[in-house]
Amino acid sequence: MATVNAGILGTGHAYPTGILTNADLEKLVETTDEWITSRTGIKQRRKAAPEEYTSLFAVRAARQAIERARIDPSEIDVLICATVTPDQILPSTGCLIQAELGANKAAAFDLAAACSGFLYGLTLVNSMIRTGQCRYALVIGAEVLTKYVDYTDRSTCVIFGDGAGAAVLGAVEEGRGILSARIRSDGRFAEQLYAPGGGTRMGSTTETLASGQHFFKMKGNELFKVAVRSMTDISREVLAEAGKAADDIDLFIPHQANQRITDAVASKLGVDEARIYSNISQHGNTSSASIPIALDECVEAGRVKDGDLVVLTSFGGGVTWGGVVLRW
Ligand code: UT7
Repeated sequence: MATVNAGILGTGHAYPTGILTNADLEKLVETTDEWITSRTGIKQRRKAAPEEYTSLFAVRAARQAIERARIDPSEIDVLICATVTPDQILPSTGCLIQAELGANKAAAFDLAAACSGFLYGLTLVNSMIRTGQCRYALVIGAEVLTKYVDYTDRSTCVIFGDGAGAAVLGAVEEGRGILSARIRSDGRFAEQLYAPGGGTRMGSTTETLASGQHFFKMKGNELFKVAVRSMTDISREVLAEAGKAADDIDLFIPHQANQRITDAVASKLGVDEARIYSNISQHGNTSSASIPIALDECVEAGRVKDGDLVVLTSFGGGVTWGGVVLRW
């Protein structure tokens, strides 16, 4: 059987209307707009209301992606919801989205790879489309992280925001779409970004809830170095695999973790500012949603053009990381 390439046929994104600014955070913890801006690049992040939940934003983003791909939801064979903040423990958020969209022929499931979840999803469906196991796939990155953030912990509460991004993938002509994709993990760093409570290891009790064991805990400083190294190395690897160099990149979209991380990776790769997309000032770190939101913003702004070489790279809790090279 002849292999085909998998490409992105349509994208979408959505986020809550609620905004949490640095000035708002100054009232909650001992921090300043100056510290947050200079150390992270973040000015504001979106925050879901108590009655809002992950699949709400995922469905909105997915509908937009499906419409732009000009397919019917019933044509989707695989639906992946990359998230670490599911609506509930059972069933998967993917299944809830599948029902809401009417994607009645799709296999649906959640994928937990934190900030790398979207690239993990792209990599999986790339293989499925190339081998003919699937015609159309929907990959969503969706998070309501702010419900797992401790608003007394200044080292994490300034970072995270909520939102969702989605992409429909299908076969595209040779030389276009995903040219190379790689995903990796190293669980030895698990405790650098984790939520210890609420699972089978430490079930929720009044005590664990009172001591905030279900909240994200992060050793940001240690993660910083691993993030820069991992995203730089994997970007080089996927570029080499695609037979491309950093000079060939038209648009570089790294996971939006911290502006200083983005700048460090881009500088090591030799990608100048004009070719980097950054929206961290407006969204903060939205984990698995960060790359698909950024990608869709580029599509809407005409920042990505037909034939452009696009490099996506991610790093997140696990730890996990990945890289994808696309010919748009
Ligand atoms: O999504 C992928 C996974 N996550 C990441 O990749 C996150 C990577 N890490 C980071 O983005 C950065 O490490 C942070 C933004 C989280 C922290 O920035 P940093 O420059 O690494 O700061 P630090 O943790 O080394 O802390 C420096 C100082 C400390 O004070 P002392 O001990 O020097 O007195 C912190 O207590 O800054 C203090 N600090 C703050 N001060 C004001 C930490 N958070 C804040 C804050 N406001 N919000």
